[in-house]
Amino acid sequence: MASAEQKKIASRKKVVAILGAGKMGEALARGVLRAGLASQVIATDVLESRLEAMKKIGVKTMKSNADAAKASDMVLLSVKPKDMAHVLDGISTAIGDKRLVISIAAGVPLSFIEQHLKKAKVVRAMPNIAATVQEAITALAPGTNASPEDLEAAKALFTSVGRCIVVDEKLMDAITALSGSGPGYIFAIIEGLTDGGVKTGLPYDIALQLAAQTVLGASKMVLEAGKHPAELRSMVATPAGTTIEGLAIIEESGLRGTLIRAVEAATRRGKEISQSLFS
Ligand SMILES: NC(=O)c1ccc[n+]([C@@H]2O[C@H](COP(=O)([O-])OP(=O)(O)OC[C@H]3O[C@@H](n4cnc5c(N)ncnc54)[C@H](OP(=O)(O)O)[C@@H]3O)[C@@H](O)[C@H]2O)c1
Repeated sequence: MASAEQKKIASRKKVVAILGAGKMGEALARGVLRAGLASQVIATDVLESRLEAMKKIGVKTMKSNADAAKASDMVLLSVKPKDMAHVLDGISTAIGDKRLVISIAAGVPLSFIEQHLKKAKVVRAMPNIAATVQEAITALAPGTNASPEDLEAAKALFTSVGRCIVVDEKLMDAITALSGSGPGYIFAIIEGLTDGGVKTGLPYDIALQLAAQTVLGASKMVLEAGKHPAELRSMVATPAGTTIEGLAIIEESGLRGTLIRAVEAATRRGKEISQSLFS
């Protein structure tokens, strides 16, 4: 259901151009269309198959990034980081100082985009793949020329595919490593729980469903109860019961330490990639 802010944005009837119609571009196009946030969504891509897929969901397609940018009020950059310089060079004259540019490219600093687009109003965003099921968490960092209204427009866009927070750009590498890459870690956890179920005799389909819904339910409790996970954990571990038996193994094998190191390693790798491409 569209929020009040989403309805306000929709009433302005913006044209949104999505440059790069891959997994994220399509998820965001679907979100914008579903929430009725734009009078029109335009998409570009180098792959004809991606343009065909976008046409099927009601998106107008164009070949030229510059033409799409010119025809829009808001431009979403959803190409891979390695393609950003080329795309920015192609749209620099079309953007001017009126259009809002939102980039979801991992590790691409606001300063890099602003150097290419001069006076542009830019917002950097880090969503995650759960945008495909409207359960993303997106962090937004406004650039030098982005106004509070621009940030609200970006919030409305990402709220159409999940939750949204506003942060200082310096937190983006850690956010990319935690929630950007996070679905990958959770898939591994779901896989492990499922295999545990199968090892103890559950049919695979049932084990998978139990594991996935358990992760969803536990996440919902953390978000809605506002309690520390350790408190919730102690609530389910009765003395000499089954949960504490399982938790003892999790502690022994250092699951929490492993996850901490995973986020640290991904943050380091993100910084390395960013430095090799953009400094
Ligand atoms: N996937 C995630 O979980 C996730 C999460 C957060 C942020 N992001 C960011 O989102 C961006 C898109 O990721 P994705 O997973 O959606 O990637 P993707 O599926 O590869 O989509 C990018 C699309 O852009 C196309 N493209 C390449 N050059 C282009 C150009 N010059 N003009 C127009 N389109 C062009 C690509 O074509 P080719 O395949 O032929 O290159 C591809 O179809 C990335 O920058 C990534 O860092 C992704």
